[in-house]
Amino acid sequence: FHLDIDASETDKGIYPYYMLKEIDEQVVVAHTLAQYYFDEAGQIRNIDDKIIEAIKAADRLYIVAAGTSYHAGLVGKRYFEQWTGIPTEVHISSEFAYDQPLLSQHPFFIFLSQSGETADSREVLDNIVKQGFPSLTVANVMNSTLTREADFALPLLAGPEIAVASTKAYTAQIIVEAILAHAAGNSHVDLKNELAKAAVEMQVIIDQKAAFKTIAEEALRGHQSAFYIGRGLDAAVAVEAALKLKEISYIQTEGFAAGELKHGTISLIEEGTPVFALLTQSKTAGLVRGEIAQVAARGANTVIISGKSLAKKNDAFVLPDVNELLMPLLTVIPAQLIAYYATLDRNLDVDRPRNLAKSVTVQ
Ligand code: AGP
Repeated sequence: FHLDIDASETDKGIYPYYMLKEIDEQVVVAHTLAQYYFDEAGQIRNIDDKIIEAIKAADRLYIVAAGTSYHAGLVGKRYFEQWTGIPTEVHISSEFAYDQPLLSQHPFFIFLSQSGETADSREVLDNIVKQGFPSLTVANVMNSTLTREADFALPLLAGPEIAVASTKAYTAQIIVEAILAHAAGNSHVDLKNELAKAAVEMQVIIDQKAAFKTIAEEALRGHQSAFYIGRGLDAAVAVEAALKLKEISYIQTEGFAAGELKHGTISLIEEGTPVFALLTQSKTAGLVRGEIAQVAARGANTVIISGKSLAKKNDAFVLPDVNELLMPLLTVIPAQLIAYYATLDRNLDVDRPRNLAKSVTVQ
């Protein structure tokens, strides 16, 4: 299954690459999801009550996915745990398939997938169905294998995602996880309104493409390795940020928990090493500032992307503030655009990185 980009199927229009079009489309997708999953009064809709009951009956949730979808699961875990109180594990499909952890008495499985065809994830779903456990697939392509074979399915409504590097499916997955956790839990967050605010601020960031073009060129030109670091939700975004950069620009990039650097990896930092620091979580902001100083002391070129309430004057880019739990929707956009411009700067094909397929339907 290799998606040939056929102009007649979907149109790039004015865009030089599908990836840029899909980065822009994230705002429309956020609004589409809010319209679909909330009614005018802000009540949840279009989620089968049986899904909510199945989640509430679970004593543990297992999110299973690959690549960027796995990274979206790392963010969603926080929503399920904070809003439903149900312990939630996130697993890489290919690991879970052959190294299944000891499961709880009443597990509930959530498969995240843009294509709905990822073989690693399908392998796990087959195993789960055989064991008689309940499952939900959240996918962008409905009537795909993962949506057909799970007990339940929910749409990402992101429209066709053509670029190999997933962008709008990632933010759509985060939004749907937030909505689902909110629906199955008792969060006091006015989620519809918070998501609307996040969508507005996503647009504000997307409108500053020139800033990210400059950052990408200045920080990455001539470099063949880079880091994204952060703590908590920012560590979850850091691994997605790293995947974006490495898979299309071929710059060796690690997404790393900032507090863990001192346990060995910091030895890789040398004069000029680009280190992007994500700093949007107030609880750990002070610690991350210290870790930034640590890598800077070893010569790193630190590029700090911070939330407004945590910003300091030399930060490279300041993000608007939204509910801290929803900050990943904003924080990932600089990472997507930095990857895009770093790749352009190297005259590489943004939409079709070497050796990659849009959907990995082999194990
Ligand atoms: C992400 O940019 C990659 N294209 C890749 O990691 C992708 O997320 C992964 O293969 C999972 O695909 P899926 O969401 O269709 O299951």
